[in-house]
Amino acid sequence: MSRTTHNQHTTERLSTGVRGFDELIGGGIPRGFFVAVVGEPGTGKTIFCIHFIGEGIKQRDKNIYVTTEESRESIIKQAYQLGIDFEDAINRNQLIIIDALMGRRDDPWSLDILDVETMVNKIIEAKRHLGFGRARLVIDSMSAFWLDKPAMARKYSYYIKKVLYRWDFTALLTSQYAVTTSLGFGFGIEHVADGIIRFRKIIVRGELKRYVLVEKMRQTNHSSRMYEIEIKTGTGMMIKGPTIYRREDVALPSTVTARMILSELQKILESPEPENTD
Ligand SMILES: Nc1ncnc2c1ncn2[C@@H]1O[C@H](COP(=O)(O)OP(=O)(O)OP(=O)(O)O)[C@@H](O)[C@H]1O
Ligand SMILES: [Mg+2]
Repeated sequence: MSRTTHNQHTTERLSTGVRGFDELIGGGIPRGFFVAVVGEPGTGKTIFCIHFIGEGIKQRDKNIYVTTEESRESIIKQAYQLGIDFEDAINRNQLIIIDALMGRRDDPWSLDILDVETMVNKIIEAKRHLGFGRARLVIDSMSAFWLDKPAMARKYSYYIKKVLYRWDFTALLTSQYAVTTSLGFGFGIEHVADGIIRFRKIIVRGELKRYVLVEKMRQTNHSSRMYEIEIKTGTGMMIKGPTIYRREDVALPSTVTARMILSELQKILESPEPENTD
């Protein structure tokens, strides 16, 4: 956590727990912010959220993680691989993982229906259970709530923020972007979010590379560059450095470009003469 002064007002910022990331956003996420974490599948959204909660555990915050697409066990396992012990934090009443995938009736922290209002009530119940104090919240992912009704995305996002705002949460809400179009399902959370953290993956010369870009962070002079990230067993996610623009990373091979130009030329040559409209 760090404090910076903006126009005589003090902003308390929460560290994300990702090495090299806090520097990109002026020291951390402002307390009380609702931040959208977006990107295509497998880009690192869940891992980023796990670090955020891991840091919350270190700082003695109250932590709640809602998982809709993976089971609680899967999240605990993934965290363990990154060197973060979620099981211990649960036993010490510092963390509650609300499992919205498995829907077990004998489990008080599981949801058997995927409904926004039910989830919000469960989050409040969990916060009461953890007690007073600064709190971190992750909802991973929000997309699950509007898979069959994309038009509701914005309304649901607004409702969640409106109700949970009063509970001293600093929250990360993830949303998946479709692989084909790179667009979110329903453009929901970006509109109500105080910040947007965008993850990407690109194949560069046969190798998968991951990147992160801060697209929006209110009240913050954030970096506007794209950074390469690395994920490693034991230590987890870290920022490697800003991307260096390389023409060959984005351009098509010259032979392909040449063939495309030839084919376009051929189309022009074969097309009938345009009529004179004078
Ligand atoms: N222990 C590990 N060591 C190295 N890389 C790992 C490890 N665990 C996961 N990864 C990498 O991280 C990727 C998964 O990242 P993550 O689960 O955060 O993606 P996501 O953006 O949440 O995807 P989705 O939208 O499908 O939930 C894996 O595909 C893998 O490449
Ligand atoms: Mg995920």
